[in-house]
Amino acid sequence: GSISGGCPFHGDGGVRDLLGRTNRDWWPDALQLDILTQQGRSADPMDEKFDYAEAFNTVDYNALKADITALMTDSKEWWPADYGHYGPFFIRMAWHAAGTYRTGDGRGGSSSGQQRFAPLNSWPDNGNLDKARRLLWPIKQKYGKKISWADLFILTGNVAIESMGGPVFGFGGGRADVYEPETVYWGTEEEWVDEGVETRIIPDEGKALENPLAAIQMGLIYVNPEGPGGNPDPLQSARDMRETFARMAMNDEETVALTAGGHAFGKAHGAKPADSFGGAPESEVLALQGFGWLHDEEEIAAGNITTSGIEGAWTPNPTQWGGDYFRLLFKYDYELVESPAGAKQWQPVNPDEEDMAPDARDPSKKVPTMMTTADMALKMDPDYRKISERFRDDQAALDDAFARAWFKLCHRDLGPKACYLGPEVPAEDLIWQDPTPAGTTPSDSDVSSFKSAVLDSGLTVSELVKAAWASASTFRNSDRRGGANGARVRLAPQKDWAANDPEELSKVLGKLDELRGSLSMADAIMLAGAAAVEKAAKDGGFDVHVDVTTGRGDATEEHTDAESFEPLEPFADGFRNYLKTKANVKTEDMLVDKAHLLGLSIPEMTALVGGMRALGAVSHHAEHGDRIGVLTDRPGVLSNDFFTNLLDMGTKWEVVDESGDEEFVGRDRDSGDEKYRATRTDLVFGSNSQLRAISEVYAENGGEKRFVDTFVRAWIKVMDADRFDIRYAKYSG
Ligand code: HEM
Repeated sequence: GSISGGCPFHGDGGVRDLLGRTNRDWWPDALQLDILTQQGRSADPMDEKFDYAEAFNTVDYNALKADITALMTDSKEWWPADYGHYGPFFIRMAWHAAGTYRTGDGRGGSSSGQQRFAPLNSWPDNGNLDKARRLLWPIKQKYGKKISWADLFILTGNVAIESMGGPVFGFGGGRADVYEPETVYWGTEEEWVDEGVETRIIPDEGKALENPLAAIQMGLIYVNPEGPGGNPDPLQSARDMRETFARMAMNDEETVALTAGGHAFGKAHGAKPADSFGGAPESEVLALQGFGWLHDEEEIAAGNITTSGIEGAWTPNPTQWGGDYFRLLFKYDYELVESPAGAKQWQPVNPDEEDMAPDARDPSKKVPTMMTTADMALKMDPDYRKISERFRDDQAALDDAFARAWFKLCHRDLGPKACYLGPEVPAEDLIWQDPTPAGTTPSDSDVSSFKSAVLDSGLTVSELVKAAWASASTFRNSDRRGGANGARVRLAPQKDWAANDPEELSKVLGKLDELRGSLSMADAIMLAGAAAVEKAAKDGGFDVHVDVTTGRGDATEEHTDAESFEPLEPFADGFRNYLKTKANVKTEDMLVDKAHLLGLSIPEMTALVGGMRALGAVSHHAEHGDRIGVLTDRPGVLSNDFFTNLLDMGTKWEVVDESGDEEFVGRDRDSGDEKYRATRTDLVFGSNSQLRAISEVYAENGGEKRFVDTFVRAWIKVMDADRFDIRYAKYSG
């Protein structure tokens, strides 16, 4: 694959805030419901016991699919189906639901139904998909909690493909809805799609696409169909496609198969200039009830619709799967033309009558087909072209490649295969699912003898805690990748990441391997970390049981697409006080970002940072070794010293690297003697008023136990974060 590595958050200089331009910036006048989600009140109408997986497993799956199939050709007057078939429209809906996924942080994607909310409901690229969702409402209403919107989007895409004779590879359900917009960094631009100006890749100016972003402009799923910044240059379009699709884990072959396969269906809409239509749903008037981009009813009936501004179908058979896309792409020369809406697009020169498309409303009428500049890239770019020619000549190869790439697109962020539900889950294991062999649960006596052996091994608390953290902390709630399962921390690339202090890690893993007996390495690493935390708590006067869940299996290199793990490398890990590259957000923002990906609350994040500092579990610092942020004279003891010393007015802090504003020295206020070294990530717990308030709770008399308990709970949460095999075991079979 051609997964791009590179530093998440690394852009072309300048500091931004973590979330970039948010809904509040786009729609300052929108109803502010978030004041009602303070003090831990949830926006979720389902009660806490609601278990979507359980509900999904009771759905009458065949009846549901039959209802969706019937909907495909049940054309509604308020939004008639082109060619009498909604299939292509629904494929675009599903593709755009899944297509926001990005490897850089695992965010975006189809798994929580975010297309219902701003900003995605109003992205220019999602134009008119409000109608697709509204068409589905009667089905959502009928099946209720048994099918989430998120699952319904993807399943409907699948059914659409099937209903037009296209190949599908399978479907896994299990995407539980959320009920509030997820705040995701989508960029900083103040225009959604500012033609010609705000393109994010300009090689001539050394401007590269900022990580983790995966679209060429704000408000687009990937690239501008007319070409970069509206410039109809297929080769530059290929460059943008290659970069953006790589960021959703798609290689060239997958990119070609998906785009050509998708555009075997349907049409683009550009019947009239875009300014003759209303605004996006989030900014429209109340009476429109969540609809945007509204059209005159007569125009809708006549098919005079503008979505992208491009006009026309790609093939003569827009509701039938087949090889016409490539046949036409190579059979004809294409010339640059303008759509009625003024968009640049490509039209076959002198097409034969049978290669014309039907009119979307009147099948007796023939209209020319078209290609977008992005489609032309599949012919003009030399690497894409080779693949396109192969698919043109081998329909079975295209069928297989499209079905697999579509399945990956739609399931990439659902998590490991254990999370897939329903009767259509494919049996085959796929490498991008990060398959891990099943483990066996060790006996209590094996566990306790291993834990004692570890504590007698000479390995320190810090070393053991760091190894366990290195193993588990790659987990991201966003796409549920990473984590301790499979003990991939022993494999490339993880074993070599600077954040993991590779030499120390390899020593620790070597020793654990000697001691583990019949335990898996994955279990051994977790249990060793647990033993270390228990000992450290005991040395601080607290008896705790760090009850991590065993029964993990070990993955091999064969189970592992090493390249696909590269985006999981931490470029900053505040929990270990690690910073590889200063990003274009503040370093403490990176801590919050990581805590969010780990699913931690503010108190959990705070306790983990303070606890890991007390345990001396910080990454080696080139100059200051293991001292940075370790505000204690008894490292290795699980104490609240980090908080008591941070809040102690006897220490005065000053920055020591003015330029970077990253490193600080703490001096005795009277003598001026150096006491501590710390980073921004440490000091933010004293400077930010909210974090300071929590630090006070852990530092005050009687707060030690609360601190230790919260630390242990958060520790177990991180260690067990990826145990979907256990959480989903009851749903399988
Ligand atoms: C429609 C662009 C990839 C499936 C469209 C439209 C544009 C477009 C401009 C017309 C929207 C409208 O005006 O109604 C692109 C670009 C892509 C891309 C630039 C990537 C470089 C894909 C992929 C799929 C897909 C990967 C699915 C696998 C569709 C379908 C339609 C469509 C089915 C027709 C919708 C309808 O008939 O209403 N695409 N697309 N596209 N796209 Fe894509």
